[in-house]
Amino acid sequence: MAQPRRSGMMRAMALPQHIVILTGAGISAESGIDTFRDGGGLWEQHRVEDVATPEAFERAPDLVLRFYDMRRAAIQERHPNAAHHWLARLEREWPAHVAGGSVTVVTQNVDDLHLRAGSQAVIAMHGQHLSAWCTTCDARHRWTGPLIDRPPCPSCEARALRPDIVWFGEVPYEMDAIMAAMDRADLFVSIGTSGAVYPAAGLVRLAREIGAETLELNLERSQGSAWFDETRLGRATEVVPAWVDEMLKRKE
Ligand code: APR
Repeated sequence: MAQPRRSGMMRAMALPQHIVILTGAGISAESGIDTFRDGGGLWEQHRVEDVATPEAFERAPDLVLRFYDMRRAAIQERHPNAAHHWLARLEREWPAHVAGGSVTVVTQNVDDLHLRAGSQAVIAMHGQHLSAWCTTCDARHRWTGPLIDRPPCPSCEARALRPDIVWFGEVPYEMDAIMAAMDRADLFVSIGTSGAVYPAAGLVRLAREIGAETLELNLERSQGSAWFDETRLGRATEVVPAWVDEMLKRKE
């Protein structure tokens, strides 16, 4: 196990050079995008087993395609909120604030609101709504329309496009890139996630193992709250701008 890089005291003093931010559905809630497990959330409206597993797609492809067609259309009506914008600002300004500084967003979300807010270093570990994946030629294509009518793959013409979403039981994307970012993280921040789904929910423990500071910003305590050095409760559009403002005011 890697030796903790910096003790508690040292961590509190030094400005973190490399920041890794994990986001979940809660950061997009105030943009009008349903979360999964909150009251009235998606998994109360739909059974995971019916719409978010490879087996469901095998069994009832129309049900699955209709579900994601609906979600894909819905997110295009939505816009980034203050939390997305302030994270993009932090990414832009941190390198000037700390020599060689970096901010990486690892998102569980499949909306494109971080990108639309201007964040560049975004790892979408669960895929994206605005992408279709051809299961014949393995090509991925930006996709904004429906898939229910089985449109041909722009690369191979096969009618084998599926939502480019990581379903339960499938391996998340870019785990190597995520581990590389975690490896050099000095500060790990988790925003708007219930900590119910692994491997994302395990990142805080990895962060602690490598000696990074850990901070949770969430509407309520998550399943992993006990692992964080600090938890700040509140709406993402309030707690995230306040935290970023504080970070940009912190001096070495
Ligand atoms: N501001 C901050 N946090 C919020 C807000 C808000 N306005 N609204 C809700 N939250 C918090 C909730 O308290 C909850 O802890 O966001 C979290 C949302 O949790 P989930 O609905 O479980 O979403 P998430 O953690 O992203 O789910 C993880 O599960 O269903 C799968 O693949 C899907 O990526 C998803 C993964």
